[in-house]
Amino acid sequence: VSADKGLPNGNRQLKLPPDKFDNSNRVINHNRSTRIKLDYKSLEFEPICDITGREAVSAISRAQSQRCKEWLVNVTCLSQLNLLYPAELKSSCPHSLGFDTTPKSLGCYKDDKIARLLPNYYSIFKNNNSPKHCAHMCLQSGFPYAGVEYGVECFCGKEEPPETSQIQDSECNKKCPGDPLQTCGGYLTINIFSTGIKKFKPQEARNNSFSATEKPPVRIAYLLTVNGRASRQVRRLINILYDPSHLFYIHVDSRQDYMYREMLEIEGSCEKGNIIVAKGENRHASIWGGASLLMTFLDAARQMLLRSKDWDFLVNLSESDYPIKTNAKLVEFLTWNRGMNFVKSHGREVQRFLSKQGLDKTFVECEARMWRVGDRSLPLGIQIDGGSDWVGLSRDFVAYVAAPEPDELVAGLLRVFRHTLLPAESFFHTVLRNSRFCDTYVDNNLHVTNWKRKLGCKCQYKAVVDWCGCSPNDFKLEDFGRIRGTRERNLFYARKFEPVIDQRIIDRIDAWLYPERINASEALNKGIDAYWQSLYHHKDTSPLADDSLLSVATSLARLVYRRLGEPSANDGHLLEASVHFKANRFSGILVRAASERLAMESSTLMQADIPEQLEAFVHPRRNLSTSSSWQDKIISLVVNTDYDQKEQTFRNYLGAVGPLSAPVLAYELDASVALPLNVTVLWVDPFDRLADAIHLQIEESGLLGHVKPQLTEPLVIGLWHVYIVADSKVIARTSFPVAPLTHWKNKPITRNKARELNSGPTGGAAAYSHVTRQSIEKWRKALELDLQLDEVKIELEERWGWQLERWLDSMVQDNYEIVRICDAGEERRSRIRGPRRPRTLQRCVDTDWSSLSPDPKSDVKSICRG
Ligand code: UDX
Repeated sequence: VSADKGLPNGNRQLKLPPDKFDNSNRVINHNRSTRIKLDYKSLEFEPICDITGREAVSAISRAQSQRCKEWLVNVTCLSQLNLLYPAELKSSCPHSLGFDTTPKSLGCYKDDKIARLLPNYYSIFKNNNSPKHCAHMCLQSGFPYAGVEYGVECFCGKEEPPETSQIQDSECNKKCPGDPLQTCGGYLTINIFSTGIKKFKPQEARNNSFSATEKPPVRIAYLLTVNGRASRQVRRLINILYDPSHLFYIHVDSRQDYMYREMLEIEGSCEKGNIIVAKGENRHASIWGGASLLMTFLDAARQMLLRSKDWDFLVNLSESDYPIKTNAKLVEFLTWNRGMNFVKSHGREVQRFLSKQGLDKTFVECEARMWRVGDRSLPLGIQIDGGSDWVGLSRDFVAYVAAPEPDELVAGLLRVFRHTLLPAESFFHTVLRNSRFCDTYVDNNLHVTNWKRKLGCKCQYKAVVDWCGCSPNDFKLEDFGRIRGTRERNLFYARKFEPVIDQRIIDRIDAWLYPERINASEALNKGIDAYWQSLYHHKDTSPLADDSLLSVATSLARLVYRRLGEPSANDGHLLEASVHFKANRFSGILVRAASERLAMESSTLMQADIPEQLEAFVHPRRNLSTSSSWQDKIISLVVNTDYDQKEQTFRNYLGAVGPLSAPVLAYELDASVALPLNVTVLWVDPFDRLADAIHLQIEESGLLGHVKPQLTEPLVIGLWHVYIVADSKVIARTSFPVAPLTHWKNKPITRNKARELNSGPTGGAAAYSHVTRQSIEKWRKALELDLQLDEVKIELEERWGWQLERWLDSMVQDNYEIVRICDAGEERRSRIRGPRRPRTLQRCVDTDWSSLSPDPKSDVKSICRG
């Protein structure tokens, strides 16, 4: 029995697997134990210097292309020669000019690198003997220039969680009981706030009888940076934010062509011309946390300045943001605060922020990845500040910061931020603090963010960045109280929202902000509790679809036509696959297919009752059996792939598992289960061979968890079984099909590839060599399971072409149920003669489930028309 496995949340397993990640310092330590040397022979170019740093060597060795390796080498060499960054930059904030930054003038200064970096913002005091006394002395002596309001803050005692993605909750949770200055963990931070800032609350503004005639309302330019496939949610976001005086500039990650096509359609449908989609060279592969995100922002900002002279504020949002105040309130607030700049600072001890954020490291972006190549020193003479990358910036500041020919400060910072992880989380803050705009800094990013770091900090971006990044969680209906609680505060947006996780919260916010919409006409409320999200579209070229998804969905397209009696079922050709949610629950998969043959055929064939295009509603069949005493205790038990640890759910909605998939078992137990509970999870392949066994101790915090087996690839095709064993009894059993691939890299699979992938692991039973004979014997006996004891040589019949398709189709038929079919064909064109084919199938547009049925909440066209 393999014992050393990754642990599901909250449960104790025997040992954590050796991992490249050390979650405690959030830095990925590659090859930590041995000092690695660069294999110069692998480079097809002459490096300009000798590379010695461990991180750089690791990055260069891991990069695939020579181009990326060369870029990594060049940046590393420039950094080693101190040529990469400016050593010093000059602040042009007027405050810094008259401010005596010599630490001694503050009385209690202890030498600290950060204080030298950040002379006029923070002074840091070591909490040696009496920090309180120290602070008192400093405050008594007075800050040495007038017109400045100052405050003392304990960095760990703030109510609000820090507005940066890279600090763990545990640090914020160190409470400062009693006198915060005594106990706040070793540092006292003195923040100096400028008094120049006017912060106008809309409530006060209303008392002052604000009217649009006194102050012309501001115009907002939204920069929407979007990726993924949740295009209906982006449409819904635009629908609720839309105002003819606003500008919407949409940037779609250049690798996402489904979303891009969707956004182009929105752009085309809005005749007012105030929805613009970035195209051509203005599109970037905006990877998570990448330097390209800042380039995307600045490039978009330049375009927005060029395209419209009218807007006053730029507000950036993503596909998972949503407003929590009405448009009118936002416009009113910003109108009172014209010229100000809204960014949120981390509110923490600065050195900690810098290191948690990776600001003291050089990163290089290539191959759609941020590589960490080593330590760096930030320029002296300026304050480094940062926090959230969701901002509200004034037009003047945007014009300054995105100027084609930036001044020395911005140009110098661009050099720094070109090699910075999560650059937009610090770039604007830092420019603001050190430029003539410093008085316009408002510590508010207008956002409420749903940080749950225990769930959101799982190093989930390790495939994209050499860092352990965090993400906020999605809001759910139960969070509505928290959102409503912000009504008196100047917070206008919240993140994150995903209808596939919870659409009710979005509906609730809509109803709260715009109650009049609830009683709107029936037509406007159609499809209100439904949500559709694309899984596949036949026009997609990037990113490549998952081959298991494509194989199974293509099979479904064939099966639907076969079900209708189409003689040549192979003509059932997949157009689209989507997931459908109803009343906030997954309700099924929609498969849109076409029969190419029928579309081209004569009228005789068209009389047959088979539409040239159709959409089918499909249910994956699930099977779970539990022993009678466990029936009420097991809420769910599912095997699938793409488990999202943050939202604790599977993202593979079709549930297609193929030979190269990595299945995971997710479980949810009822609170009535006696804890701790010791269970063993047995994974048995279609030939009754024990493929893995995992011991698990489930504790109170782990009633919802997941288990990842160690299975040998390629997985054997067929039906797999998973047994949950407690007290030597099987308490539950489930199964999952591993389907053969008919597609590889999105093309029909070749014979050789089919042989390689669809024939199971090479080596027969030896493929599961980590499972011992003793353990097989133990489980065979204890559970009376028919497990193979001896090595069995499995010889799967080699199938290809139509035989491979039939093999897959029969598995798909067993595991999916076609529930409904509608006619997605267009009305016949007049050039086709002959009698009109009577429709016996309902038209898709008339159903309430098809992806072609009305969805007014996501309709941009009519809202744009006004
Ligand atoms: C969090 C923080 O909120 C954010 O400030 C920080 O930059 C990253 O961590 P998170 O929810 O993890 O955000 O990121 P997400 O909203 O998914 O992505 C950030 C932005 O990058 C979005 O606009 C998103 O559309 C874009 N993005 C992300 C891409 O364009 N391509 C990608 O592959 C991933």
